[in-house]
Amino acid sequence: MSAETPEQIFETLVYPYLNHAVRMFEVGYATATDIDHGMRFGCGYPKGPLTVLDEIGPAVVLDALAKRFTETGDHLHQPADLLVKIAGEGGSFTQGSAEGEAAPELKHEISKVGVVGTGTMASGIAQVFAQAGYDVVVVGRSEEKLAGVTAYVGKNLDRAIAKGKSTEDDKAAVLGRLTGATSREDLADVDLVVEAIAEDLDIKLELFRDLDRIAKQGAILATTTSSLPITQLGAATSRPADVIGMHFFNPAPVMKLVEIVTTDATSAQVNETVKALTAKVGKVGVSCSDRAGFIVNALLFPYLNDAIKLSEDGVELGTIDAAIKETAGFPMGPFELLDVVGNDVSLAIQEELLAEFKEPGLEPAATLKEKVAAGELGRKTKKGFHDYS
Ligand code: CAA
Repeated sequence: MSAETPEQIFETLVYPYLNHAVRMFEVGYATATDIDHGMRFGCGYPKGPLTVLDEIGPAVVLDALAKRFTETGDHLHQPADLLVKIAGEGGSFTQGSAEGEAAPELKHEISKVGVVGTGTMASGIAQVFAQAGYDVVVVGRSEEKLAGVTAYVGKNLDRAIAKGKSTEDDKAAVLGRLTGATSREDLADVDLVVEAIAEDLDIKLELFRDLDRIAKQGAILATTTSSLPITQLGAATSRPADVIGMHFFNPAPVMKLVEIVTTDATSAQVNETVKALTAKVGKVGVSCSDRAGFIVNALLFPYLNDAIKLSEDGVELGTIDAAIKETAGFPMGPFELLDVVGNDVSLAIQEELLAEFKEPGLEPAATLKEKVAAGELGRKTKKGFHDYS
């Protein structure tokens, strides 16, 4: 299908994403509210996919997808059974979906937080907790890397001061709550550890075995992995009931979402405490179980991958980016976002999704693989889909 006008680009890229959201909802992986909150607060979309679907009209989306499916034969374009049903009934996905759940409570006292890692995510997460008033110990591999965390937080706070949203006193207080450590032993007295180290299972397993030895009894051990099995991280410890996922989004100080990922072993108390804590630090929590991509990445990355495939069909990157911002109101076009996330990270996530869902349509786009092989990873290498040199 040729897609050249903004409206055609919207249909080509956004309708399958809406269909994925319906499939996620129909298998009961997440509630309609959490699916919508995920995309609004994780990616800054103006509305969640199920709300968008209701607004466009389930029957309109169904017709367009059905037509596309006859052209492509791609199961990802085949309208979800629930979409067919709701469209047939003239029903809605979101009506009556607001849940009246009681506000979660902190079941563990949390006053000191440990963050393991010194990259962008770790730095942003440390900032979130320090700004919310928690003492934070950041564990890194060198003094130099720890200085990078302080510099990152300082720069963000300077930007807020320049905009009149913070003060030098606030900055001093936030930085004063951050301490750095090069030894993991300094995590012995923290109430919660959030790890944001390399996205590599062996490296994380080694860390969790060590955290099991070091952390005090009752400490919550959280991972911000976006693609590795949290169940396996829990099983590397003698206390899988205390292990949970807290998946933050990039940039962590700005994006309001935390996906709270429980395994079969995570205790209800740990889950409730993490939900309450997420709200306390000013974030919106959504709940899901331990499955590749969780809510947001499982919906976001197939759409990004489809955008690359569309560019391979000859549509200009800039045309696609502009069309999506104009028609969908997303804050970044797909190629701008790929360059922020990193093509290496995006390829790894796409491969995880293909392995989990085994849909041929999830096969990573050839250009994504080529970019990674060429070291064109995005903003961090000054060249990705766009050029930043
Ligand atoms: N670190 C800290 N703060 C930042 C920042 C950064 N890197 N970039 C921007 N900000 C702050 C700004 O200071 C500003 O703060 P105030 O509103 O308090 O003044 C605010 O964010 C908005 O910034 P700007 O006005 O400069 O820029 P913008 O309007 O273009 O917004 C954006 C920037 C918030 C990043 C916006 O483009 C956006 O929402 N993009 C979508 C990002 C997204 O989809 N993230 C998810 C990626 S997927 C993921 O993370 C999961 C995974 O596992 C890979």
